[in-house]
Amino acid sequence: MNLDHLDEEFQPLALKSDKERIERIQSLKWIGYPRANKILQRMEWLFGHARTDRMPNMLLVGESMSGKTSIAKRMLALHPAQIGRSDQTDHRPIIYLQLLGCSTPKEFLQTVLESVNAFYPPSAKLPRLMGMLEKIIPAMGTKLLIIDELDHLVSGTRKAQRDLRDQIKLLGNELQLPIVAIGTMQSRSAFETDQQLSNRFQPFELPSWRYDKSDQAEEDLQSLEGILQLWETTCPLRMRSQIVNDDCIEKIHEDTLGYMGYMMRYLIDASEHAIKTGQEKITIDTFSEMTFYFENAVKNHRREAV
Ligand SMILES: Nc1ncnc2c1ncn2[C@@H]1O[C@H](COP(=O)(O)OP(=O)(O)OP(=O)(O)O)[C@@H](O)[C@H]1O
Ligand SMILES: [Mg+2]
Repeated sequence: MNLDHLDEEFQPLALKSDKERIERIQSLKWIGYPRANKILQRMEWLFGHARTDRMPNMLLVGESMSGKTSIAKRMLALHPAQIGRSDQTDHRPIIYLQLLGCSTPKEFLQTVLESVNAFYPPSAKLPRLMGMLEKIIPAMGTKLLIIDELDHLVSGTRKAQRDLRDQIKLLGNELQLPIVAIGTMQSRSAFETDQQLSNRFQPFELPSWRYDKSDQAEEDLQSLEGILQLWETTCPLRMRSQIVNDDCIEKIHEDTLGYMGYMMRYLIDASEHAIKTGQEKITIDTFSEMTFYFENAVKNHRREAV
């Protein structure tokens, strides 16, 4: 079997069973691309920043399915926690949490504690929870706090929003911990109404890919081609796919609106189809034959955007 179309390290994978290959494709967690790499670089910079009274922070914003959480999880994977070490202390270079279910400052601190598996008495009041974190976080060597699902902040009353924002600010200040906050444009406006927060949180946008013939979209096109090229050379199909061309890119863009999340699902569905039908490669025909399981989600997305 000629597997020259795959990078050498991926060739043995193409010889595995259909089931194993599909599992492998479905469990793909990370594909790098320039825009994400830039954001990761900035996160690394925050991670390595010296402790100061005024720590810099990041506000990562983008629509749903633009790939924000995947970047945060990638950062986490690059700095994994070491749990159950011989000296009995966990080492957690990064704390990642989702704001879901937090409406009050107390719930926020409880969520931080839960995210590091720390026990706290349910009756503990705010100062006690804060005191616990002041001890635990330096002991774990934490150098970055990532707060995802920031939109949850916007669902509360104005006062609740302010209290929660103040608590986030206070935690960062007291512990001299840089923070990456992640949400959609909606949460960006909630942050920007607070002068102090907008000064401290530098916004980074993760837009969907543009695909048109203008000069401005040239960089997007190159990134898209890069991702498809990577797919062709790493996805364990047994024949050479042909997806790095204008027709395929146009079709993928049309069906996924250029969102990284939908695009990944699209390529996964196409690869599964290629394996299950024995075609073993993806071409423009695959896209019209296969079932794209996120088709309705994309339709809703399109409707909301109008
Ligand atoms: N760089 C990537 N490499 C591989 N897969 C990715 C990447 N980015 C996104 N995905 C895929 O797309 C899905 C959606 O991405 P993600 O959860 O990061 O979006 P999001 O911007 O956080 O969306 P939401 O605002 O709804 O939380 C992921 O579950 C993952 O399967
Ligand atoms: Mg997310």
